[in-house]
Amino acid sequence: MTSLDIDRLGRRAEAMLDELAAISEEPDRLTRRFLTPEHKRAAHLVAQWMAEAGMTTAEDALGTVRGHYAMAGEEAGANSVPRLLIGSHIDTVINAGKYDGMLGVVCGILAVEHFRDLGRRMPFAIDVLAFGDEEGVRFPTVLSSSAAVAGAFEPSWLDGRDRDGVSLRDAMQAYGLDPAGIPAAAMSRDEALAYVEVHIEQGPVLEHADVPLGVVTSIAGQFRTRVTITGMAGHAGTVPMGLRQDALLAASEMMLAAEAIAKAHPEASMVATVGQIGVKPGAINVIPDRVEFVLDLRAAADAPRHKALDQFLRKAEALAAARGCAVAFETYHDCPTAACAPWLQDQLAAGAGSLGLNPPRLVSGAGHDGQAMARLTDFAMLFVRCKGGISHNPLESATAPDMGAAVATLIRFIEDFRPPARAA
Ligand code: GLV
Ligand code: MN
Ligand code: MN
Repeated sequence: MTSLDIDRLGRRAEAMLDELAAISEEPDRLTRRFLTPEHKRAAHLVAQWMAEAGMTTAEDALGTVRGHYAMAGEEAGANSVPRLLIGSHIDTVINAGKYDGMLGVVCGILAVEHFRDLGRRMPFAIDVLAFGDEEGVRFPTVLSSSAAVAGAFEPSWLDGRDRDGVSLRDAMQAYGLDPAGIPAAAMSRDEALAYVEVHIEQGPVLEHADVPLGVVTSIAGQFRTRVTITGMAGHAGTVPMGLRQDALLAASEMMLAAEAIAKAHPEASMVATVGQIGVKPGAINVIPDRVEFVLDLRAAADAPRHKALDQFLRKAEALAAARGCAVAFETYHDCPTAACAPWLQDQLAAGAGSLGLNPPRLVSGAGHDGQAMARLTDFAMLFVRCKGGISHNPLESATAPDMGAAVATLIRFIEDFRPPARAA
């Protein structure tokens, strides 16, 4: 077992995150959406770091940067190489913090760099993956880049458009990617031994427990449902209140209904959010005739989540009808609760244990690429304490020593990594 300088690893992580955070679509805040020029700049920086850490690098059809650290005795161009996958994402929300996603990529690179510095190869290769579409804030897709690696990319996603009307297909081409290459992005199940991700917790549990790291047991399931309400535009000064078909008022009641439904299911840790809304025609003195919003509904168990969505759809129809409006729904994301593999959880916990830590187990309410990677292979996650539990916010913060502990845990985990024997 090698000795590890946790403080140095934490400081390295912090410096790399600062450098990545400087790449933004907006001058005064961090916003880096999928397939933007800034995504490309971040991808280049990550590829450069991977190369400096001793990896060969490649970009797949969805723009995922893939660093490959060869296994002991690996021949160049070998057909099938067993590999441990370590990854996270480099896209961000609008006005983001600098840890969400990027931390996992940086930890993977620093762990590989450690082995390269020692001249050490494992009996398996290590692939570090930097995905580009985890947040799903640009196109009506979520986890499309990890889904491509998992062989679960849906071709219909290519037709989804962003708010400027640009399709995913066109954005890929503008970025320099070829949609025809998507099937080749899929990894083989025989090669993928496991997928592991380090991520900031994005909640308050670890801080409350006064511990730097936690091991995730499962990721909550999630719906994203686009709701479109059509009413009747009219003059704000002349149409009496009782004679209006105001699409925005109908939408407002629907959002409150979603809140009430989620609040009624604390046992399933259910949460409902509307963070994006469009109102047309969008003039001060015109009654809105068209509203579109996306309901993000999550729960720790799938049955109550499905029941809650049904309940919401029925309630929304009734609320629309009561205001003389029409409503239509499109659920474009339905991701089941994803369980982290117990054997991987235990090996991550053992890695932390070797540093004298005893990480608690916790559920993730946030979505992660592991949900898509679960279609390919077993996965697990290591969470890092998050200041105040604040995330998707520039105040998001993790300390250098906590991040150093995460890199060190990942290194110990890799040193002792043992995939379970597979049935022939
Ligand atoms: C991603 O961070 C999500 O949970 O929406
Ligand atoms: Mn994330
Ligand atoms: Mn996020």
